[in-house]
Amino acid sequence: MTEPSTRWWQTATVYQIYPRSFADSNGDGIGDIPGIISKLDYLARLGIGVIWLSPVFASPMDDNGYDISDYQAIAPEFGTLADFDRLIAEARARGIGILLDLVVNHTSDEHRWFVDARVSRASRYRDYYVWRDPAADGGPPTDLQSTFGGPAWTLDPATGQYYLHQFSRRQPDLNWENPELRAAIYQMMNWWLDRGIAGFRMDVINLIAKDVDRGITADGPKLHDYIQEMSRASFGNSEALTVGESWTATPEGALLYSGRDRHELSMVFQFEHVMAQWHETWGKWQPKPFDLVRLKSVLSRWQYALADDGWNSLFWGNHDLPRAVSKYGDDGRYRVQSAKMLAIALHFLKGTPYVYQGEELGMTNVPFTAMSQFRDIETLNMHRLHRDAGLPEADFIAGANANGRDNARTPMQWTAGPEAGFTTGTPWIEVNPNHVAINAEAALADENSVFATYRKLIALRRQLPVMVHGRYEAHLEDHQQVMAYSRVLPDARINVIANFSANTVTVTIPPAMRGAGTALVGNGAPVTTLGEELQLAPYQAFAVLVVMGAD
Ligand code: NOJ
Repeated sequence: MTEPSTRWWQTATVYQIYPRSFADSNGDGIGDIPGIISKLDYLARLGIGVIWLSPVFASPMDDNGYDISDYQAIAPEFGTLADFDRLIAEARARGIGILLDLVVNHTSDEHRWFVDARVSRASRYRDYYVWRDPAADGGPPTDLQSTFGGPAWTLDPATGQYYLHQFSRRQPDLNWENPELRAAIYQMMNWWLDRGIAGFRMDVINLIAKDVDRGITADGPKLHDYIQEMSRASFGNSEALTVGESWTATPEGALLYSGRDRHELSMVFQFEHVMAQWHETWGKWQPKPFDLVRLKSVLSRWQYALADDGWNSLFWGNHDLPRAVSKYGDDGRYRVQSAKMLAIALHFLKGTPYVYQGEELGMTNVPFTAMSQFRDIETLNMHRLHRDAGLPEADFIAGANANGRDNARTPMQWTAGPEAGFTTGTPWIEVNPNHVAINAEAALADENSVFATYRKLIALRRQLPVMVHGRYEAHLEDHQQVMAYSRVLPDARINVIANFSANTVTVTIPPAMRGAGTALVGNGAPVTTLGEELQLAPYQAFAVLVVMGAD
């Protein structure tokens, strides 16, 4: 049975590539597009339908490409436009679409618009950015802080005004109030759509519509007008997959983005489940103990809120987050078991799953011991602030090792050989020493690998309508170690159970889940029948399919 309204991206799984760290074809230590092309067969084998490519555009790389200096050129370290066109064609030949990263809250300070804008207040492009006069004392117009630490305003001495940057000072915010700027962006989007891309991931889309004079930097009053205008002017009548990043999204807000009558986006990336594990005051830099009940309640709230309208994105990791198995599982003794468990727990939820490069191998965080090993601008800026506040360096490094962005950015581990087979040169950031054991070559040779579990889950999504459309039902919501839920259609039900702990746990199975079925996937002995009680091994997880009306 296929639901009539199924969109192609509801049965597909997306794979995120961080180009700098994926595969280097020319030995300069930086991943590139020809490198990605050389790995397409690997991705086809995994079964993914879409690649989300983190930015590959021309950029001074202050924030590894999230600072774009030319939206219509490829950064030379990543390749050429011809390489990019070849990537689209080669991916398409394998049934894979390419999602570009649309970074339009800000540009690089080297973008020609900003270069011109700062020449004089009369520049044609001045109003493409957000400028304000200094405060009475000559300081910044407001005390707004940037996400990367320090004031969100920098003085441009030549023209005597401050410009806004919610990220680094080299990432000036664009002024979406300006209709000419908006039209230029839509035109640029169409230029890429015409090249055959499958859609866009939209960087911090919740920040584009700001009203700084009223202290509004996120979710401004015109946000949805702009997105609707963007849709009308570009992807609206196409089959494009669009996913907006919003750290402020609530389930109710997500319906505004992805509700079927809204004509905005396919879905949003929401981060409530990520932030639920952060320290109240110190955020991600002060890890706090993992809380499964909290995690489940956030995931369930989103599942229920978007049950009939809108669509969820499902992910544990990305290039800004720690490695999933290190954060939510056990990257030591139970690495393989817990990496599979996390995949099973996530992929049966309703929504489109995103796999971050290396997650399918169970890649782990990297244990850096010195600040000189870190590369990420956010980590380096925050370190300066912590140091200036007199906080001990060892504490900062512990926080960065637990939650810093470089964890996700160490090179993809292809082989047990030198530099994990990522490059023949010196990588821009160190490879994780555990590549000798954790690598793609080993995974492909092992039919019980984490990779094999991901492959199975990705294939099941294409086969089972109940995995795509089934109603979500949460069970055992207060259980501190076990996640349990069902997906239900009139003719089929999937029951999922996952032990998030290193303990053997005995659970009472809720009546709705009891009965006989077939084992879909698991990380232990196949489970087909659920009785009143079940003993789960450490990190054991499985899914059972029950076909209604069948015995
Ligand atoms: C969100 C991106 O995911 C992150 O990597 C980047 O630093 C900021 N947006 C700024 O573009």
